[in-house]
Formats: sequence, C-alpha cells, structure tokens
Amino acid sequence: MADTEGNLDAKQFRPDVPQEMAGFHVKGAGSLDFGMKHRLGRIFREDGRTVMLAFDHGYFQGPTSGLERIDLNIVPLAPHADALMATRGVFRSLIPAGIDTALVLRASGGPSILKELSDERLAMSIEDIVRIDAAAAAVQVYIGGEHETQSVHNLTQLVDAGMAFGIPVMGVTAVGRDMARDARYLGLATRIIAELGAQVVKTYYCDEDFDQVTAACPVPIIMAGGKKLPSLEALTMAANAIAGGASGVDMGRNIFQRTAPEAMIKSVSAVVHEGLSGAEAHAMYLDLSGGASD
Ligand code: R5P
Repeated sequence: MADTEGNLDAKQFRPDVPQEMAGFHVKGAGSLDFGMKHRLGRIFREDGRTVMLAFDHGYFQGPTSGLERIDLNIVPLAPHADALMATRGVFRSLIPAGIDTALVLRASGGPSILKELSDERLAMSIEDIVRIDAAAAAVQVYIGGEHETQSVHNLTQLVDAGMAFGIPVMGVTAVGRDMARDARYLGLATRIIAELGAQVVKTYYCDEDFDQVTAACPVPIIMAGGKKLPSLEALTMAANAIAGGASGVDMGRNIFQRTAPEAMIKSVSAVVHEGLSGAEAHAMYLDLSGGASD
C-alpha cells in the first residue's frame, strides 16, 4: 500500500551529513561516464554550484516582460552566469555561438498559457540537442497534474536518449496553481524525478524543511526563481536555498525584470559562489546598481 502521508516526521533525513561525492564535484554524478561528467562540469563549478539564467519563458507564454529583446537584455548578462536556460529557437537566433557559458536546452513544450499546461510533449530530438552542443536538456514534470503520467514519460524518454548520447537531463518540478509548494510536495516531486533518472532537479524553495527536500534528493537541486520579488527577498530566498542544500539557482524574472539586471546577477552569483547572506548580497546589489529601487 502506498505511503500517501509521506514520512516527513521520521527525522531520518540527516541534512547535516553531506552525501558522499564519490570523486566528482557534482552530487550523485560520481558513477556517470565521461561525457555526462564533462557536460555537468560545464554547468557546475568546482564548488559544485551553479548560477543558471532562465529565459525560456517564451516557449509557452510568448514575449514575457523583459524578454522582448533577448539580444539587448539577456546577452550582456551571459558572462555572469554559469549556464543559460533557453529554447533552441532562441539559442539559434539570438545567442552568439562563440559564447562559453553552458547551454541548458528547454526540450519540452506544447500547450500555451491559453491551455492546460501539463499536457506537454518532448519538443525536440536528442540529435538536435547534441547538435546545439547543450550541456543538459530540461523537461517539465507535473507531479499531481492532469497529465502527470505523460510528463513523467517525457522525462524518462529524454533520460533514455540522454544516456545514449551523454546528455544530462534537468527535471523541472512544475507546480500547479492549486498545489502547495511545501516540503511534502516538493520532496515527493523531486525524489520521483531523481529516481526516474534525471541528473539535475529544479524546484521551488519552501520556507520550512527545504533542507529535508535537498537531503532526500540524490542529485543536485537547483532553486527555481519564480515571479519577481523585491531584491532583498529574492536574494534572501537564494541564500536560504543554498544554506538549505541547494546546489545553485535558476532564476529568470528576478534577474532580467530588474532595472539593474547585471548588478542583480552578480549579487546572486556572490550568494551562490561566495556564500554571501541575503543582506550582504543586497548591499552589494545596491552598491553595484547605484541604489536601484527594485
Ligand atoms: C520554469 O519552469 C520554466 O523553465 C520557466 O520558463 C523559467 O525557468 C522560469 O524562471 P523564473 O520563474 O525564475 O522567471
């Protein structure tokens, strides 16, 4: 019989004991082969962490505010990110091929914001993912969603193809509007995604027991950004996620929708790679931006 209640109270997560890294700096990747490790090593620095800049929003919501001119608003930020997350359409049409930031390809799609979002399919072939020289491919997984099984099948198909070609897969927990973003749900979704083979999981931060979510996930968890928050809140959320065991962040609107996006991404990077607190990073943001009000 399924354990539908979960066991968050079992107190066996031991978030204080880091997972054994088995000779490679990316969590859970010690037994992968060379190509996988090499690609993960492009995304994750030697500290095992990454700053990913997400601007794939257009694949279901069109020209999102701040992404109307990716050439003007996003390209200048790329050198400050460890990885860029976008669609093949945007990589091919707008991102200079000489860039040395790792590319994480949005590989699923289908419904627009006008439809039921969980009804996605894989939207590109593994051959094209390789052709673009992606360091990883990303797919939404709608645990508890209307099309849960289809989205899980998308993940497992992409993992199979990725294993054949050495391409890591990032499973993204897509949380429906009516679902609680708490540790019980996020723990369920992230663990399922890792168990089914994703080498990286992207999920939201939750205020309570986020360390239990990361402790119970055998591969790196990357914190999703979400809608734009005041800069201090966004930087504090990132700092709390890192302190809670996240291996990095994948932020979009909280960076590119600001009046000073370059100052923001540098401040986020200082949280992730230098361990700045939210308040310290916010002071850095204010300093770099000349006192930006957002
Ligand atoms: C999320 O699941 C999608 O990949 C989004 O398009 C993107 O990552 C969202 O970024 P943010 O919420 O930080 O703007």
